[in-house]
Amino acid sequence: MSPRYAHITGWGMAVPEEILTNDDLAKIVDTSDEWIFSRTGIRERRIANSDQTTASLAVEAAQRALEVASLHPGDLDMIIVSTSTPEFIFPATACIVQDRIGAVKAGAFDLLAACTGFVYAVNLASQAIKSNGSTNALVIGSETLSRFVNWKDRNTCILFGDGAGAFVLQASDEPGGVLSSVLRSDGSGGNLLSVPAGGSRFPVSMQSLYDGLHYIQMNGREVFRFATRVLTEATYETVEAANLTMDDINLLIPHQANQRIIEAAARGLNYPMEKVMVNLDRYGNTSTASIPIAAVEALDQGRLTPGDHTVLVAFGAGLTWGANLIKWTGPLPPTRRKVSPAVYRRFARIRSILARLRRRIEGFIWGNG
Ligand code: COA
Repeated sequence: MSPRYAHITGWGMAVPEEILTNDDLAKIVDTSDEWIFSRTGIRERRIANSDQTTASLAVEAAQRALEVASLHPGDLDMIIVSTSTPEFIFPATACIVQDRIGAVKAGAFDLLAACTGFVYAVNLASQAIKSNGSTNALVIGSETLSRFVNWKDRNTCILFGDGAGAFVLQASDEPGGVLSSVLRSDGSGGNLLSVPAGGSRFPVSMQSLYDGLHYIQMNGREVFRFATRVLTEATYETVEAANLTMDDINLLIPHQANQRIIEAAARGLNYPMEKVMVNLDRYGNTSTASIPIAAVEALDQGRLTPGDHTVLVAFGAGLTWGANLIKWTGPLPPTRRKVSPAVYRRFARIRSILARLRRRIEGFIWGNG
């Protein structure tokens, strides 16, 4: 059997319209635009409104990615939603997305590797494609971190923002696509960045609410030190695994957490900042969504074109870190005539309503127990 390759054939992003600037934050906590920008590079971030959720942003980003790939949602066989801010503990946010986009033949599950999640998910989908387990996969990074931020904690609330980004990965005999990946973790540092309450260890209680343990807790300095080290390591390792050198890399797309972390990584790699994608000034840290959002903007700006090699590299809670090396190709020739995911979404809604109705009628006829 000839080898299969996993190409990125579609991409899309979605961010809330509402902008929260550093000056806006300075009205809430004791901080300033000057402090935030000089320490992080962030100027503003997007905040979800009450109608927007992790799933709704994911669906918007997915729809755009399917449109770019000209792929019918019914042809998807796998949906991975990477998120640390799921709609519920269960069901998985990926199943909500599956229902809303009408991906009737797809398995769907969530993946939690915090800010490294998108890199993990791209690797998982590409391995499934290469081993014949999948042909058309949808990978989404989506977050509504604003719902888990303590807006009284100036150490954390200045950093995060909401948003989503998605890739479609498809099988092809043409060489290219995801060439190598590196995934790493070190659970001994789990306490450095966490949301302690709300899981089975510390279920939500009056005490946990009072102590604010349902919010993001972070040791910023330790995370900073860890990040600068692992971004360099993971990039080198994935480039080496693909038998390439840094000279072959046209664009580095790092997790958008902090300008100083990104600059330190570029210095460590002896790699020019002009070839590093940075857009955190406008979105802050959107966790697992930051890499696909940066990739979509790089593509829009013509900074990533077919034939280019790019490295996606991330770090985050867990601790986790990792990288993918991708030879960019772009959309494959469409297998069906032009598709309009927005139209399928309307059909998906009707299908979903009918499926619920069928379940009710069956329950009525056969009884519920
Ligand atoms: N505005 C004004 N002052 C602030 C502040 C804010 N928003 N947040 C903290 N400070 C103060 C601190 O209280 C401290 O004051 P002190 O010296 O009187 O105690 C001082 O600024 C310096 O704090 P420090 O934590 O040393 O700042 P820093 O230079 O390390 O920057 C971070 C803080 C959070 C920006 C930085 O550590 C960081 O980016 N870490 C990585 C975080 C990250 O990326 N997390 C996500 C991982 S996916």
